[in-house]
Amino acid sequence: MRRKSLSLGWGIRREGRNFWTRNAVKGVSVRKEKRKRDGRNEWRHWNSTKSKISASLLRTKKDPRDLLPEVGQTCLYLGASVGGTVSHIHDCVCGSGNHHRGKIFAVDISPRMMRDLVQLCDKRPGIFPILADARNVSELSPFIQKKVDWLHQDLSIADQAKTFIKVSEAFLKRDGVALLSLKGASERNSEGDMKNRFQNAKTIIEDSRLKIIEIIDLKGLEQQHILFNCKFR
Ligand SMILES: C[S@@+](CC[C@H](N)C(=O)[O-])C[C@H]1O[C@@H](n2cnc3c(N)ncnc32)[C@H](O)[C@@H]1O
Repeated sequence: MRRKSLSLGWGIRREGRNFWTRNAVKGVSVRKEKRKRDGRNEWRHWNSTKSKISASLLRTKKDPRDLLPEVGQTCLYLGASVGGTVSHIHDCVCGSGNHHRGKIFAVDISPRMMRDLVQLCDKRPGIFPILADARNVSELSPFIQKKVDWLHQDLSIADQAKTFIKVSEAFLKRDGVALLSLKGASERNSEGDMKNRFQNAKTIIEDSRLKIIEIIDLKGLEQQHILFNCKFR
């Protein structure tokens, strides 16, 4: 029996516990993910154990659509790596040949990751690779001249909440969506156990212009990670 398919917006759908994005580059997988045809369209599996955004779509207790950028919007992605998750965001925001005229600024500090990311960007117009340290706003500002609608930070660094606030204040529109994938193990400057580290980050965010909408526990999909879904006020 075919599973019931639920649209979560342009280019993304849910079938049971699986998410699929409409492949902007037909015939090509980015991380060996499954693909399937549906008439003229091709869909790519968005694995919830390999992407904190996909994991959050599965785990949220609120409307999953609130976590996603809208088609044609401008996004800032910190910690793009080789572009696994970025490619799915691109499917939803830009589409094939970027006919939706979306924009994704994809930042990574590693030249090794950047090499693969640049190759991905060649096939996916609308993604702009930036080799920079995301902790330094001054390294990003020459590339991002208008405020963005949606931000995701996925950096394995200390003081993740502080960077998240700094970058949101510099680049996010009012009412923009700000997502922080927080890795507890990286919070080396924070005292105590994992719970304390998450609590410290929460306190820092609460004291900023970001309003926490939901804290999503990713246990079982991404170890020692939670995702803060916030709105910029
Ligand atoms: C966990 S991986 C990101 C995975 C990716 N978001 C995905 O879902 O496909 C973290 C990435 O952050 C990058 N990174 C670490 N520190 C950084 C910094 N200060 N500025 C920019 N990128 C950084 C690393 O090079 C690495 O590629």
